[in-house]
Amino acid sequence: MCGIVGVLGNHEVSPIIVEALRRLEYRGYDSAGIATVADDGGLDRRRAVGKLVNLSDVLVHDPLPGHAGIGHTRWATHGGVTEPNAHPHRAGRVSVVHNGIIENFATLRSELEARGRVFESQTDTEIVAALVDLLMDEGKSPAEAVEAMLPRIEGAYSLLFLFEGEKDLMIAARKNSPLAIGHGDGEMYVGSDAIALAPLTDKITYLEEGDWAIITREGATIYDANGKLANRKVKEIRMDATRIEKAGYKHFMMKEIAEQPTVVGDVLEAYLDKNGGVAMDLPGVDFTTIRRISIVACGTAYYAGLVAKHWFENYARLPVDIDVASEFRYREPPIPEVTLAIYVSQSGETADTLAALRYCAGKVDKIVSLVNVPESSIARESDIALPIHAGVEVSVASTKAFTCMLTTFAVMVLKAASERGHLTEDELAVKIADLHKLPGLMSHAISIEGELDKAARKVALAHDVLFLGRGQMFPLALEGALKLKEISYLHAEGYASGELKHGPIALVDRDTPTVVLAPHDGLFDKTVSNMQEVMARGGRVLLISDARAIATAGGGVWRTITMPDAPEMIQPILYAVPAQLLAYHAAIAKGTDVDQPRNLAKSVTVE
Ligand code: F6R
Repeated sequence: MCGIVGVLGNHEVSPIIVEALRRLEYRGYDSAGIATVADDGGLDRRRAVGKLVNLSDVLVHDPLPGHAGIGHTRWATHGGVTEPNAHPHRAGRVSVVHNGIIENFATLRSELEARGRVFESQTDTEIVAALVDLLMDEGKSPAEAVEAMLPRIEGAYSLLFLFEGEKDLMIAARKNSPLAIGHGDGEMYVGSDAIALAPLTDKITYLEEGDWAIITREGATIYDANGKLANRKVKEIRMDATRIEKAGYKHFMMKEIAEQPTVVGDVLEAYLDKNGGVAMDLPGVDFTTIRRISIVACGTAYYAGLVAKHWFENYARLPVDIDVASEFRYREPPIPEVTLAIYVSQSGETADTLAALRYCAGKVDKIVSLVNVPESSIARESDIALPIHAGVEVSVASTKAFTCMLTTFAVMVLKAASERGHLTEDELAVKIADLHKLPGLMSHAISIEGELDKAARKVALAHDVLFLGRGQMFPLALEGALKLKEISYLHAEGYASGELKHGPIALVDRDTPTVVLAPHDGLFDKTVSNMQEVMARGGRVLLISDARAIATAGGGVWRTITMPDAPEMIQPILYAVPAQLLAYHAAIAKGTDVDQPRNLAKSVTVE
């Protein structure tokens, strides 16, 4: 979750590292820091609590010279958000930045304290620096010391070291946490992901599980977990840096909401052919023999999976089990024969999802992943990785990744349904034509932003908000509530409309708005009854629906948002837009930090 950067450059590296950290700030923003080795070999650091801008201010008043340096943005795990707990950590000649958790740090710390070491922080990271420094005291070189230290630490980590007196050396190590090495012209870089390095180089080597690397300006020497020289490929990564800018929008979140018609169009272009057929390649996946699907994901990606469950069961008559990854991995469920496992993750690095995938490896027929980062760990460890084509998503609250996951799932469901004989060619053609309506309908939905802004200003005055949806719209109620709580800090809960009377209705009063996401579908009348139950108890309903439904059932509701008519299957994708815009404008009304809400990080690489 923390962001790591390292540069062995030909210019002053502090500004380059700050700029790279800016692109990684989405991974954590509790504190930030930089360490450099100056031309005289001196190792020094600057750190600041809070956003990166605070570190920039420190550097203006107290610059940090040097052509070699490492930097870090922190998402606190061990130890509060204080400057002593900020990275880089230092012990003697060693400085280190770390992402992950060292699980046996307490034992190691006691051991080191018994040997007279004094620690300035409460972090698990500082013991890593101390261990390496101790090994160097025993006469080992930096590389020998890191190699000897690695087997002693347990847990998940990506680590990057810098050493006093070593102007041309960084040492990196990876276990269960990604790390990319960038190759420049007489310069070398390290980053938590390729995004950080995008403007610096497009030549990237990904370290594999257990790898560690000695990096100088001449290149990287990589060793595998057994200490053997490893030959890892240098890949050219297509990374359009302009997609990482706000492009005139006030927030990445709004830019990413607005991009949805385009990126959903990209998904359709990738997975549908010009003749109106499905062009999704799933080698070795035979939907006629598959008996079950198992979908595993976290957060918003899990909600995309919930919609997909509805579609697979409804259109392809394929039963689906779905789990949040953190539960699945420890429940260790039996996996029936001929199961297709599908893992869904924007980042492709979510620790729980990755661990669940590893549990499944070898037990299922095929592991398919839906990921936004094609080079991610989840993509690489799947049999088939389907990119969701959302482009870089910077805002912590996921928006376009959700709708791109859903669109990718929709095509897969149509493929499964037609292969299993549940859709005739003509029916398939109609459904595909419906999918092609999405970009236009989403643009329409974005154009009613002003209405959602007005509603959001009212919603933002509440303390609690309920979201209701039925059938395929139930996951949208969950997603709407998640978006609202994570960026506006309003307490919000999503319920299946029919569950309301089984408890949550006790929460209904005038001050608790109920947002109903209910296009006109086969279940609409039932939802109307649930809305009436809310209104009969003095509750205020914000109905987000189409004109026909609002005309028949809009009487007496507090507010309405009129959405364009849409074919049933694509409604959940379309209705994500008003849910996102409502949360976005509620957050603006509350004055919260939209793109970097408190306590969160974009990529959850710790469990
Ligand atoms: C919510 C959100 C999170 C992520 C979750 C999984 O807006 O972004 O709930 O969906 O952390 O992340 P990925 O998809 O990267 O596995």
